[in-house]
Amino acid sequence: MSKLQIIGGTPLRGTITIDGAKNSLLPIMTACLLVNGSVRLRNVPQISDLHQMLHILAGLGCYINRQGDTVKIDVRQPSTYVIDATAARQIRGSIFVMGALLARLGAVELPYPGGCSIGSRPIDLHLNLLRQIGVKIKTSASVIRATYTPKRQRHTTVLTLDFPSVGATENIIQATTLGYAGNTYQIIGVAKEPEIVDLCNFLNQCGAQITGAGTDTITVTSVARLHGTDYTPIPDRINTGSYLIATAVTGGDVTLRNVIPAHNQNLINKLRAVGAQINTTSDSLRIVVKHRRRQNFAIHTAPYPGFPTDLQSQFCVLLAVNRGHSTITENLFENRFRYVPELRKLGAQITVQGNQAQIRGVTQLHAQTTPNLCPSAYHVPDSAACTGTTLHATDLRGGVALVIAALAANGTCTIDHAEYIARGHQNIVKDLQQLGANIVALP
Ligand code: UD1
Repeated sequence: MSKLQIIGGTPLRGTITIDGAKNSLLPIMTACLLVNGSVRLRNVPQISDLHQMLHILAGLGCYINRQGDTVKIDVRQPSTYVIDATAARQIRGSIFVMGALLARLGAVELPYPGGCSIGSRPIDLHLNLLRQIGVKIKTSASVIRATYTPKRQRHTTVLTLDFPSVGATENIIQATTLGYAGNTYQIIGVAKEPEIVDLCNFLNQCGAQITGAGTDTITVTSVARLHGTDYTPIPDRINTGSYLIATAVTGGDVTLRNVIPAHNQNLINKLRAVGAQINTTSDSLRIVVKHRRRQNFAIHTAPYPGFPTDLQSQFCVLLAVNRGHSTITENLFENRFRYVPELRKLGAQITVQGNQAQIRGVTQLHAQTTPNLCPSAYHVPDSAACTGTTLHATDLRGGVALVIAALAANGTCTIDHAEYIARGHQNIVKDLQQLGANIVALP
């Protein structure tokens, strides 16, 4: 899909099931490089970031077999430590290959990783941690080359992370899990995201010895060998959050299956504050929104369990249509307000200064209407003239925010560069159609 066309104004109603988490699966897939054997991953969505990662693994000599939503990854011995540059430049997650290959082969060569252009996204924290365990790193303008020989005597190393970077935490875990059996690494100041816990659970199921995941200190005791396993990752809490916000924006009654409600507790509290009724079971969430209450928010994005930067743009749409004056302070990525000019095309009253957005809620967003050209739901318009307001997606989460805004607006919106949304959503069109939205994908 390269474009989405949405006729807004329909409350969402129905039930959908959430896929496995992209941000868990990326490091879990690279962690397969540590395993001597075969790993079966379940509930794996067909999204472009994961396709790219599987392509990288295939280039390193892994045998990959996908059947439906199950992916089998077989790694007897990686055949090279040089990572395919084209694929690595597409996704930020390619950096996780570093820790895994250093542990398995003692060497790695990769280009600087790519990913959504939401900020400068440095990798100094990754490299600092790796240097603390003795990795030798040489960087040039385009390539990182590193080698590593773990100490072959039992010792305990204390490592510190200056900021709880998710990726740097995942990288050092992979670099230390496999090694001289009994070596211990105490890593202080790590990220506490559920995806970190998921990676550690996966590795422990393969025979690793990792404790403390979900707290700010993780202890890894290296083992000499990991074995294969069968693993189902946690559900995607960001996609879960996006659908919760979409329902709060349009009104309606939606049940999400295959979720872990505790992973979205921060968001759930805020949605309840605007009047959403949310009921949870151990693996489902039901949100009913009849009337929203006026509410002023001061949102600050922060590492977990703070408000997630990956839900900032979607939540901004809710603030834009809810009575009240709110602010959002983006503390993680400096380019995360690129969607704001697009929302302003629909009449949203948002101003951005530095890393802060001021939002004055309006009662309704308005897209251009093209009556008679878009006669019915799910109907691809006959005329190219039926584009309504065109909104430009510039990254995955910002793109999803535009979809949510279009669902709420009067009139028709066309969202281009929908390939960004496909990085993280397997079925956004099918899911939203199932919930009654008027949305189609256009070539
Ligand atoms: C991961 C997620 C991303 C999410 C982010 C924050 C994946 C594949 N991506 O990204 O969806 O938005 O966590 O929850 O899991 N930083 C440095 N130096 C570094 C590394 C990071 O300064 O070496 C900074 C970043 O610029 C940013 C902050 O640390 O300001 C957080 O980044 P980090 O937690 O590393 O995010 P990612 O792992 O890239």
